[in-house]
Amino acid sequence: MELKILGKTGIKSSPIIYGTWYLPNIPNPNDSNKRIVDKEASIRVIKKAYDLGINFFDTADVYRGVYDRDNLFNDFSTVGLAEKILGEALEGYDRESFIISTKVMGRVGPLPNDQGLNRKHILNAIEKSLERLKMKYVDFYLYHAPDNYTDPAIASRTMNMLIEDGKILHYGLSNFSNSELKRYIDVSRESGLEVPVIIQDKLNLLEQRNLNTVIRTAEENKMISMIYSPLAQGILAGRYIKGDEANSRKEYEKNFKGNTLFQQNRDKIMKLYDLSVELGIPMSVLSLKWIMTRGDNIFPIIGASKIEQLEEDISVLSIKIDDEVIKKIDNIFKP
Ligand SMILES: NC(=O)c1ccc[n+]([C@@H]2O[C@H](COP(=O)([O-])OP(=O)(O)OC[C@H]3O[C@@H](n4cnc5c(N)ncnc54)[C@H](OP(=O)(O)O)[C@@H]3O)[C@@H](O)[C@H]2O)c1
Repeated sequence: MELKILGKTGIKSSPIIYGTWYLPNIPNPNDSNKRIVDKEASIRVIKKAYDLGINFFDTADVYRGVYDRDNLFNDFSTVGLAEKILGEALEGYDRESFIISTKVMGRVGPLPNDQGLNRKHILNAIEKSLERLKMKYVDFYLYHAPDNYTDPAIASRTMNMLIEDGKILHYGLSNFSNSELKRYIDVSRESGLEVPVIIQDKLNLLEQRNLNTVIRTAEENKMISMIYSPLAQGILAGRYIKGDEANSRKEYEKNFKGNTLFQQNRDKIMKLYDLSVELGIPMSVLSLKWIMTRGDNIFPIIGASKIEQLEEDISVLSIKIDDEVIKKIDNIFKP
């Protein structure tokens, strides 16, 4: 796979990243309303991604491999499971052959400081993440979301301390507003600190609002944009067009946000489907290609839960798609 430079860091990465928010999962044998991670299947998918040439993996301390909305704040037993499984899957590979990003901010335990961007929590959280990943450092450490209580200069200095200590190589931000992002960049610059080099935000054909805000700011500052939910959680891969919901997020995720998104955009999605049939190119590939043509420093994070999905998504790197096709897609989904 041809690698791409990650912005000003100089690090060489696969043009797409594999994400571990949701891992392959199965019904919980003790409670049929719940799901549990299928560890073996998860390890198989992660290893397959690596074998196919993906060298950048995204995770977060709060990722449990399945999203259990009801228990986010009262059951912490599965917190960090995605980091653990990712670490196990990559254990046999040379640490220098892959790149890891993980995140801090969300609640990971019952104590008052088991969340946030305060120094007390960040210093504790990185140790826990490294322990679960069984690694000495992570390449990118991201604030998962803004924290209204911690001074940005303190948070930035904490990240700089971790860089000095060799526990992280670079840091970044996820889910910040454009003004907050600019403020964090300015504050670290004014404090003489190393500035954040990466953002992680949502972008897909149906949800384009970040394109002219945070992603543009990132581009102006030569930062990397990691793009999450590039397929709108499967909708833009045509996941539900034929009514097949078995083993999908729509089937097992209560209040799956994609339901509304799908209903509101059915016509556009069907146009993309028709184009995909006409060209003989999967919808997932067309959707990912559109994202990858939005800028030089844009890296989609794919969340494929099955090996066939992974292979299809990665084929975006080998299938040739004309600029005219991308323009057509752009016109269909113009906000
Ligand atoms: N920073 C943040 O706040 C944040 C938020 C969300 C995500 N993320 C990161 O971004 C990553 C990706 O997000 P995402 O999982 O929402 O991405 P996504 O690629 O939009 O959605 C992945 C889902 O789409 C379906 N899919 C993928 N490829 C397919 C194909 N070829 N054919 C049919 N269906 C396909 C699968 O659904 P089924 O499993 O239902 O089959 C898969 O689980 C996450 O793992 C995480 O690392 C970060």
